[in-house]
Amino acid sequence: MPHTEFIATGFHVPEKRVTNDDLAKLMDTSDEWIVQRSGIRTRYWVSNGETGANLAREATRKALAKAQLRPADLDCIIYCTCTPDHFEPGNGVFLQRELGITDIPAMDVRTQCSGFLYGLSVADAWIRSGQYKRILLVGAEIHSRGLDKTTRGRDTAVLFGDGAGVAILGPTDDTRRGVLSTHLFSDGRFAEKLWVDGPGLAHDPFVSVEMLERGAHRPVMEGREVFKFASVKMPESVALALRANGCSPADIKLLVPHQANLRIIEMVQKAAGLRDDQVYVNIQKYGNTTAASIPIALDEALDEGRLARGDLLVLTAFGSGFTWGSAAIRW
Ligand code: ACO
Repeated sequence: MPHTEFIATGFHVPEKRVTNDDLAKLMDTSDEWIVQRSGIRTRYWVSNGETGANLAREATRKALAKAQLRPADLDCIIYCTCTPDHFEPGNGVFLQRELGITDIPAMDVRTQCSGFLYGLSVADAWIRSGQYKRILLVGAEIHSRGLDKTTRGRDTAVLFGDGAGVAILGPTDDTRRGVLSTHLFSDGRFAEKLWVDGPGLAHDPFVSVEMLERGAHRPVMEGREVFKFASVKMPESVALALRANGCSPADIKLLVPHQANLRIIEMVQKAAGLRDDQVYVNIQKYGNTTAASIPIALDEALDEGRLARGDLLVLTAFGSGFTWGSAAIRW
C-alpha cells in the first residue's frame, strides 16, 4: 500500500492588513491586551467582493505552480472550513468551478480548527486505498465578516483572521515517508463552548430579526474553557502521535500546531517537552485562521527551509466542537 506524501503547499491571505490599533478604533480594546493575551499583532481581512473560494483559488494556484501541475491533474477536492460562503452547497464546488474543473468529487469538512487534520486523515485513507492520486486539501476561512466587531464581541473578534492554505497530496511508494499516522477526536458535550447558534435549522423560523438582534449569528466563546482543554488535548495528541510511531519529543524536527493563541502554543510546547526551534509560530501575523492555520504555517515553514527530506513533522489542532487531533509525517 502506498503512503501519502505532500507534493506541494500554498497559501494566500487578503491584502487588507488589520493591526490591533485598527481594532481599538472599532471596540474597547488595546494592542497591549491583545498581544499579552494572544500574541496576535496583525491579521488580514477580506475586502468587498472577495469570497472564501477566491482565497482558496489563489492558494491553490500557488501550490499547483510549485508542483508543476494543472487544475485538471487534481482528482479530488477536500475543502475544510467553518465559515462557508453559503449554507448550501458546500465550498468545495465553488472552488472547483473557480479552478475550471468538473467531474471530480468536492467534499466539505466541518470540524473547525481541526478541519485540516480531519481532511488529511480522509485524504490519506483515500490515497492509500488507491482511490485518488492527486487530492487538493484546502483549509480556508473568512472570519472577519462574521465577527461582532463591537465591544460586545471583543473577546473573539480580536483573535480571528481570514486566509487560505492548501496542500496537494499524492501517493509515494517509499513507505518510510509520508503520513505515518493520524489521530482524531471530538467531544460534543462542549459544542456550545465556541459556536454560532444561528441561523440554523434547529430554529423555527431558522432566521429571524430577533436572532439577529440577539447576535445569534456571531461566534461566541467561553474562552477559558477553550483554553483549558486546548492546552491539555493538544499535547496529549502529540504524545499519541509519537507513541504510535515509536518516537520521542527529541525526534520531532518541527511541530506545526494550530495557531489558536500564543499562550496555548507555549503551553503545548512546554507540555510536549519541545525547544523553541521545534515549534512553528506565525500567529502574530495572521491571528487564528481556524482550518487554514496549519496549512498556512506549514507553507511558511517550508519556505523558510525548516523541513528537509526525512524530518519528522507533527501537526496538532484543537477547536470548536470540541474537536482535536494530531498527525505524524515523515517529510
Ligand atoms: N480587549 C480588552 N479587554 C478584553 C477583551 C479585549 N479584546 N476581551 C475581553 N476583555 C476583558 C474582559 O471583558 C474581562 O474584563 P473584566 O475583568 O472587567 O470582566 C477581562 O478582559 C478578562 O477577560 P477574560 O475572558 O477573563 O480574559 P482571559 O485572560 O481568559 O483571556 C482569552 C481571554 C484571550 C479569550 C482567553 O480566554 C483565551 O485565550 N482563550 C482561548 C480561546 C482561543 O484561543 N480561542 C480560539 C478559538 S478555539 C481554538 O482555535 C483552539
